[in-house]
Amino acid sequence: MGYRVVVVGATGNVGREMLNILAERQFPVDEIAALASRKSLGTEVSFGDRTLKTLDLDAFDFTGWDMALFAIGSDATKQYAPKAAAVGCVVIDNSSLYRYEPDVPLIVPEVNPQAVHDHARRNIIANPNCSTAQMVVALKPLHDRARIRRVVVSTYQSVSGAGKEAIDELWDQTKGMYVPGQEVAPKKFTKQIAFNVIPHIDVFLDDGSTREEWKMVAETKKILDPAIRLTATCVRVPVFVGHSEAINIEFEDFLDEEEAREILREAPGILVVDKREDGGYVTPVECVGDYATFISRIRQDSTVENGLNLWCVSDNLRKGAALNAVQIAELLGREVLKKG
Ligand SMILES: NC(=O)c1ccc[n+]([C@@H]2O[C@H](COP(=O)([O-])OP(=O)(O)OC[C@H]3O[C@@H](n4cnc5c(N)ncnc54)[C@H](OP(=O)(O)O)[C@@H]3O)[C@@H](O)[C@H]2O)c1
Repeated sequence: MGYRVVVVGATGNVGREMLNILAERQFPVDEIAALASRKSLGTEVSFGDRTLKTLDLDAFDFTGWDMALFAIGSDATKQYAPKAAAVGCVVIDNSSLYRYEPDVPLIVPEVNPQAVHDHARRNIIANPNCSTAQMVVALKPLHDRARIRRVVVSTYQSVSGAGKEAIDELWDQTKGMYVPGQEVAPKKFTKQIAFNVIPHIDVFLDDGSTREEWKMVAETKKILDPAIRLTATCVRVPVFVGHSEAINIEFEDFLDEEEAREILREAPGILVVDKREDGGYVTPVECVGDYATFISRIRQDSTVENGLNLWCVSDNLRKGAALNAVQIAELLGREVLKKG
């Protein structure tokens, strides 16, 4: 016996990936519904070798469905997720709407799987921000060994993290650079993204940081350890898929780079590719379509006490969103619903 599963936002980047990954991982599905807005009614989406026609979220009744994987913006989530949760359908949400609420668990299964048992208070589980998800998978096994005191992270985030219109903007703007009269002005982004980088993701806060940077701080504390101090600079780069991060870590205890490499090699969800030679590291184009978070450039930082540097790359639509959501669904099935 399997589950009755709803994918909300099935025509979007994350929604399509959730359908792909549910099929790839042979999630025990008895019935599946693909939902989007009314304007997409009947749009065809793939689920393994099946084709599903999308239904209108606004007209959908969640009664009798086991779980709903949401990947729509926060405003629409606010309107529809409580309706699903109220009739007993567990919501696994990709938006940032519920992530910081104390009675909603925020889960990365490799890091805090035990939090799944807290889902029942609201019938909602939150999926973290893409940059946080891949980073905490790497930090967790190192924290267990040497206690992390402080993290300094700089991100290089792909445009797919900003939705399907953002992908189109990079594509059209890049082509437009070569065709006189077809230049494309910034719309989704605040400045030209083609052949450029933009140190601004989400809105500015009073202290001069952006909300994306604040999310990395708040989510790391909630998922991994409130004692960790973290500072982030989040940057959008002209890459279609795959987020990269340069991470500097200060530990309580000394951790040798060779031991760190061994710990990461054994850690769930991680693949270490770290040869000190030309091409002996992973770049975003190589991580697309993969489940793993790739770690390269592991090296001691001798400018601080017990310091380590590393380079962390992952498919933001997968570990940063759809894969993590499906892993939460698997965890929920295995530990709580126990049907599959
Ligand atoms: N992309 C990432 O790396 C990433 C990572 C973590 C979290 N997230 C979060 O995941 C969510 C989806 O992101 P995305 O990148 O997949 O966006 P996207 O590609 O722009 O897709 C948005 C989806 O939401 C649907 N939608 C929007 N408003 C709706 C409404 N009022 N009613 C019903 N459906 C509605 C759209 O349906 P139509 O096609 O019918 O408009 C579409 O299926 C966002 O909250 C985002 O912050 C994204």
